[in-house]
Amino acid sequence: MSLSVDSVDIIKKIKSCKTLQEVEVIRLEYLGKKGFIPSEMKLLGKLPIDQKKIKGQELNKLKNIIEDTVNDQKILIENKDLEKKLKHESVDITLPHNEEVTGKIHPISQTIFSIIEIFGNLNYTVEAGPDIESDFNNFSALNIPLHHPAREMQDTFYVNNNGQDNVLRTHTSPVQVRTMLKSKPPIKIIVPGRTYRSDSDSTHTPMFHQVEGLVVNKDATMADLKSTLILFLKEFFEIDNLKYRFRPSYFPFTEPSAEMDVAYTKKNNVLKIGEGDDWLEILGCGMVNPKVLENCNIDSTAYQGFAFGMGIERLSMLKYGITDMRGLFDLNVKWLDHYGFSPLDLKTRSEI
Ligand code: DAH
Repeated sequence: MSLSVDSVDIIKKIKSCKTLQEVEVIRLEYLGKKGFIPSEMKLLGKLPIDQKKIKGQELNKLKNIIEDTVNDQKILIENKDLEKKLKHESVDITLPHNEEVTGKIHPISQTIFSIIEIFGNLNYTVEAGPDIESDFNNFSALNIPLHHPAREMQDTFYVNNNGQDNVLRTHTSPVQVRTMLKSKPPIKIIVPGRTYRSDSDSTHTPMFHQVEGLVVNKDATMADLKSTLILFLKEFFEIDNLKYRFRPSYFPFTEPSAEMDVAYTKKNNVLKIGEGDDWLEILGCGMVNPKVLENCNIDSTAYQGFAFGMGIERLSMLKYGITDMRGLFDLNVKWLDHYGFSPLDLKTRSEI
């Protein structure tokens, strides 16, 4: 070799490094801007053509060898460091569990876990969006233009951010818009999350939770929507003979729109879901309005979809027999101790 250095020596030097810093020093020595290889490359121009070609090839070969060895050595050191760290951070999982010092899972979290589990089994994926939304995502893209009465219906909290019109999202529906803008159909998502409206009494809190669903593909139908929701509620409430009904309704972002009610009875102040002659509204749904698809750059002549949205507090209260919604957010440890769930009781579906 006509080079003044020996690749075997360099490889040895790199392989004897114990820290990333040591590797970096050698890398700079040979590959850095003023290092050996770039300096030699600069001198190539002065050589006669035949030598230039040979030396150029040798330099390139050496450069590749050094790069590969440096990378390999870095990975080796990183792995060793990680191994060392893991050894120090080991947790003794045989420690006995002490019920008294363990927190409880909040019923809202528990409800969200079961919703994700049921829809997960139907191949839905989970999407999320920010609590502070643009006016476009929360309203306009969903076919709720300025001065539309639906805006007043929702008691919006406005957030003025440097003259930009932002809102605390009044529903999880803006994540429909976000998802359609960033990904191509087929889309099959649910969106559990926090939502906000200026409203507070025994059945309303200014912050609450919803779960949104959106399916967009070439052949989604109202029948698919209905069967999905029926299956979900039967699984969620664990009732095979759930009595339900779909009522025509109106939402600007779906056409046609419907609301789904489930039957209930009340005996000795205890609510029983699934049978009886009284009805409780559970969710809103419909076929995605073609205008919404177009607002999100999806060709409404090729694609169609369905959507649904429901309140997580109501689902929670009905399933777990909670009567006053404000209890959910009082931060009362005794309340949580009574209504909460032990983290060790959380079962995945495959275990049930
Ligand atoms: N966003 C509606 C609300 O907060 C709920 C809703 C109704 C969502 C129908 C949907 C839907 O996706 O299709 O009242």
